[in-house]
Amino acid sequence: MPRSPEGVRVELVVTSGTFSLDGGTWEVDNNVWIVGDDHECVVVDAPHSAPAILAAVGDRRLRAVLCTHAHDDHVSALAQVCDATGAAAYLHPADLVLWERVLPERSPDRLFADGDVVRVGDVELQVLHTPGHAPGACCFHAPALGVLFSGDTLFQGGPGATGRSFSDFPTIIDSITTRLFELPDETVVFPGHGAATSIGQERPHLREWLDRGH
Ligand SMILES: [Fe+2]
Repeated sequence: MPRSPEGVRVELVVTSGTFSLDGGTWEVDNNVWIVGDDHECVVVDAPHSAPAILAAVGDRRLRAVLCTHAHDDHVSALAQVCDATGAAAYLHPADLVLWERVLPERSPDRLFADGDVVRVGDVELQVLHTPGHAPGACCFHAPALGVLFSGDTLFQGGPGATGRSFSDFPTIIDSITTRLFELPDETVVFPGHGAATSIGQERPHLREWLDRGH
């Protein structure tokens, strides 16, 4: 796992549960990425199991839960994690339409915009608004670590799903080509589900994705 000069590193916890949308429910494993040093951290998404996430945070100060988007399999443990730690929940406002279906009893603590920066120690996480899988889907780029947290926008093997409500294939392709494929080839991609990949590994496959339409 990458590590900054001041010791900010990335850790992974995988949690399991379900994803529900449009009347269907599916079993899923989700990646929870923890970025921090010995004293403080942020987490990218808070799915399924608050105890597993809180155990990985340990006695560090959890400053924020950064939501890649508000599908229920990415925020289902958010309320418990934020209430236990005092962490602030960050969301792009275009995903409030999804958030309100999953967490109608609370609001995000902060709404972020494209270009915002969240600092953890000597590492900057730059917010990239990458709609398509969800209207407010965001990726977080940490240049100092050479890492992109891609949520459900880009996986090993292609774009995130766009067949359900509030998703759009041309929009996700535009986000990937104009924002993510601008990053250096060696940028490691840590997605919301499954194995890591890199920008250089995925870029050559764009034509296949366009031809198959997903
Ligand atoms: Fe999703």
